[in-house]
Amino acid sequence: MGEQTVGVLGCGTMGSGIAQVAAAAGRSAIVFEVDQSALEAGLGRIERSLAEGVRRGKLDEQEGAAIRGRIRGTTSWADLRPCQVVVEAIVENLAAKQEAMRALSDVLEPDALVATNTSCLSVTEIASSYRHPERVVGLHFFNPAQVMKLVEVVRAVETTDEAFEQAYEFARGIGKEPIRTKDSPGFLVNRLLIPYMNQVMQAYDDGLSSRDELDAAVELGLGYPMGPLKLGDLVGLDVALHAAEALYADTRQEEFAPPPLLRRMVKAGRLGRKTGRGFYDYAPTSSTVAEQ
Ligand SMILES: NC(=O)c1ccc[n+]([C@@H]2O[C@H](COP(=O)([O-])OP(=O)(O)OC[C@H]3O[C@@H](n4cnc5c(N)ncnc54)[C@H](O)[C@@H]3O)[C@@H](O)[C@H]2O)c1
Repeated sequence: MGEQTVGVLGCGTMGSGIAQVAAAAGRSAIVFEVDQSALEAGLGRIERSLAEGVRRGKLDEQEGAAIRGRIRGTTSWADLRPCQVVVEAIVENLAAKQEAMRALSDVLEPDALVATNTSCLSVTEIASSYRHPERVVGLHFFNPAQVMKLVEVVRAVETTDEAFEQAYEFARGIGKEPIRTKDSPGFLVNRLLIPYMNQVMQAYDDGLSSRDELDAAVELGLGYPMGPLKLGDLVGLDVALHAAEALYADTRQEEFAPPPLLRRMVKAGRLGRKTGRGFYDYAPTSSTVAEQ
């Protein structure tokens, strides 16, 4: 398994983290991007993340350089041919993901494992565009992928037992804690998280308690590391809205329906940390200034 070559489609927030994790576990990683400038931006993201790891003493310079040395970038589908595993982490758009599956169908060996990191789309629907849908699974990493241990391993309708277990072992092999679940809206974590976040936002809108007290109730009463309003700001309220809408569209269950306050905040551009305002106000940090 140490010789495994892992392809990663998309080198944005998630793809860059996944490629780094795979390379840190000794795999060769090939990241694919739409064009040269997106590729350079993505590789730059990995380099900054490794430099940050060195600065914080999580790895030494030599290790950082070795990880970087195992990652190469490409804009050519043909370069993904040697990959035994490909993780798709492009934009959350069904048509784009299905197009990527068709392109992979022409280059990968039939026994390659193909995983999608989709958050809210159907793995089965994405897999239907791949020539061997039985080899497709969901591997749902959490942000930041370099840090978060959990990976949801998602079995789609056509996924074989063999592919499913290979995906589980792959996730374990790169140092993650995988859990098995099946293709259903929100998989496991978002299915649990979204109704809870919706409830708290509605309670806030109803004036049941203040923002700080609602977060304190969850942090101190339930022992969660972060209250739900802070968490919403961190994840992005537009992302939370999108997830709630997708779950509701699929299930029509009331508990997933986004609360009106969430819609209003997104309409107002109060998306959380990334726009400087959500439920809380954020002073620009040095890193957000640097990104601009
Ligand atoms: N950001 C999160 O917190 C998070 C967490 C879990 C899962 N996800 C999922 O991971 C996927 C990626 O999300 P992200 O936040 O990294 O997005 P992002 O916008 O940061 O990155 C997406 C990258 O994909 C590239 N891309 C777009 N179309 C492409 C194509 N056709 N082929 C190759 N590359 C393409 C873009 O250039 C961009 O660099 C989405 O499906 C998202 O739902 C995101």
